[in-house]
Amino acid sequence: LEGKCPFGGNTIAGAETSKPTLSDWYPDRLRVEQLHTDGPAANPLRDFDYEAAFSAIDLEQLKNEIKEFLTTSVDWWPSDYGNYGPQMIRMAWHSAGTYRIADGRGGAGQALQRFAPVSSWWDNGNTDKSRRLLWPIKKKYGNALSWADLMILAGNCSLEIMGFPTYGFGGGRRDAWEADDATYWGAEWIDNTHPASYDAMVQRDGTRWVGEPGDANYELKNPLAASHQSLIYVNPEGPNQEGDPALSAIDIRITFGRMAMNDEETVALIAGGHAFGKSHGKVPSEEIGAPPEIAPMEAMGLGWHNPRGNGNAENTMTNGIEGSWTPNPTVWDNSYLENLFRYEWEKTQSPAGALQWTPTDPDAPRTPDAHISGKDEPLMMMTSDIALKVDPVYREICERFLSDFDHFTDQFSKAWFKLTHRDMGPKSRYLGPEVPAEDFSWQDPLPAADGPAIGDADVAALKKAVEDSDISVSDLAFTAFSSAVTFRVSDKRGGANGARIALEPQKDWDVNARTVDVVAKLREIKESSGTSVSLADLIVLAGCVAVEKAAAAAGVTVTVPFTPGRVDASQDQTDPEQFAWLAPVVDGFRNYVLPDYHSVSSVAPERLFLDRAALLGLSAPEWVALTGGLRVLGCNHDGSSTGVFTDRVGTLSTDFFDAVTSMDYVATKVDEAGTSFTLDDRATGETRYQASRNDLLFGSNSQLRAVAEVYAGSDGQERFVHDFVAVWDKVMMSDRYDVVKG
Ligand code: HEM
Repeated sequence: LEGKCPFGGNTIAGAETSKPTLSDWYPDRLRVEQLHTDGPAANPLRDFDYEAAFSAIDLEQLKNEIKEFLTTSVDWWPSDYGNYGPQMIRMAWHSAGTYRIADGRGGAGQALQRFAPVSSWWDNGNTDKSRRLLWPIKKKYGNALSWADLMILAGNCSLEIMGFPTYGFGGGRRDAWEADDATYWGAEWIDNTHPASYDAMVQRDGTRWVGEPGDANYELKNPLAASHQSLIYVNPEGPNQEGDPALSAIDIRITFGRMAMNDEETVALIAGGHAFGKSHGKVPSEEIGAPPEIAPMEAMGLGWHNPRGNGNAENTMTNGIEGSWTPNPTVWDNSYLENLFRYEWEKTQSPAGALQWTPTDPDAPRTPDAHISGKDEPLMMMTSDIALKVDPVYREICERFLSDFDHFTDQFSKAWFKLTHRDMGPKSRYLGPEVPAEDFSWQDPLPAADGPAIGDADVAALKKAVEDSDISVSDLAFTAFSSAVTFRVSDKRGGANGARIALEPQKDWDVNARTVDVVAKLREIKESSGTSVSLADLIVLAGCVAVEKAAAAAGVTVTVPFTPGRVDASQDQTDPEQFAWLAPVVDGFRNYVLPDYHSVSSVAPERLFLDRAALLGLSAPEWVALTGGLRVLGCNHDGSSTGVFTDRVGTLSTDFFDAVTSMDYVATKVDEAGTSFTLDDRATGETRYQASRNDLLFGSNSQLRAVAEVYAGSDGQERFVHDFVAVWDKVMMSDRYDVVKG
């Protein structure tokens, strides 16, 4: 028995900690399992009606409790200046500030600050304490108050107790229950425990450098929105910690622009936010412990252990810069901008060794110590603050804010509301009594319905009119799908409601060219129908007609669900600039790849196809069924036959799956790079079909092939039609927050 494990079959090497993992073995594999992160199995509140529970809260009472807590200091983490407000504002800003408009990911919507990697970024230092301080309130309200809502509400309450008028609050954010492993934050793995490694954090896109932050022509690859991985936005000490405010301004403009903030909103946010609180830099970063995700067990989920004194209060170490921007860090006033402009600032060093700025004038006002009464400190600015004074455009905005404090207050109030709500999707998702009546363009507003939705008789008549028209099944399905496919579950923008496919900019996108005539014909049907149907509803209904016909042709009778009630947005309600972000680079569903794709991305298109499937909220089986169905329906954007592996286009057959699983064909590369292929008859060598990477994917990737086999099997046809109809309906309904809450 010598050398043998005495515990028989018991595992002694934990599978979980055993390296390598699948992705260590095969780093380039397509991680299809990303589609299933934060799935229902991870969610303890699957059947919980959050809307009802949150709506039952007395919001005013809750806010009063939060406000009282903010000025009641506790021993384990004493508040600066006797007020937790500033640290709560920073927590809320960092919660919302990860949002990026290119893919709608990040943001405050799911409280992802609780999980790695975001929880453990150096830039989020001590936000773990802010959340833990809020636990008694979270515990009291339980599941009726999500972390995501509480974090933003605490930010609002903080602003209010310090004299700042917030613009409103909408609840309705549902927490995630698992780390988000799908969001691309930058390709480089960096040691994000200490700021000394910022230098190594320049964003790379896969294989090539995209320029240095601070370069005037610095090109930050989409969808990234931070100049360095693991920062919320920019390095406070300027690019590469070199303390150059002009270069910092370039960084700020690019990164805040990725959050869809214009120059005025950017200045309002930074100058507004830094009216409050202080930066913490009393201890060299080398002495600080591991971040929460890898902290020792006994730290119980908290990170960044500080060995000096009690590790808090006058010894607090967070970012490394030390000091406050204003003499009144718990009062809303204009002293941030006043002092920024009134004084000259020179570079100095914090006790932790960070680069910061101090007034040159010895008579400049000072700020009280946050903990030691009777002691005061010099004012502080960061390089990223001086940037607002140095950049000519920012400077002009600052000067306006300086001369008109009410205007500044109003701009900051609106920008804060946008920052904290912009990933929530349509306003119909906002809950509670503090939702502002005003519509903002970034909310993609929809008009109120001007009557009841159409009834069954109208639906039947309209379906008949569509059937009797000369529009093909392919065109009908393509148009309906195109109107809905812009939806992204990340920030809940896009989708069929509003019929924005008929408006700028979507009507002009190449990928939608096929829809233009179809929309015109559907408009005629709408006008002559004598019903009050919206164009948005009719486009979707026409898609139902197409799918039912195609299913019947395959021998399966189905009724495709249709839920009327969509409305038509106006061009005024549709900001072309905001919508331009929804234009696809790759949309494998419609076999679309941006013509000069390789100049904008160095990753294989199927990776972005996977990303699109993820943003549409699809599971792997849904992705497979949907794509296979769209191919046999003839839904390529250019009407080509690439990937249309069937001789009976318009029949909802399993032919696509037969082809990708069949050994009767040999797949052959057409070009050296492997962007296009043919499927050739193995026996004769004759070319049968053209194919793209986004077609062959379903036969080459093991997980997708496994699903394709289900539909290609002899018993697959009926299941396929039902699965296709289910996912079709899911996509059509994905933005219907007016009927399906979520
Ligand atoms: C604190 C950087 C924008 C609100 C800080 C700290 C840093 C920083 C380094 C100190 C953290 C610490 O050591 O405790 C930046 C940079 C920004 C930016 C580089 C963008 C260029 C904003 C915005 C807001 C904001 C947009 C809110 C609207 C705050 C607040 C604090 C703070 C309230 C004080 C926290 C406390 O007292 O504990 N910021 N920030 N910041 N920031 Fe910002």
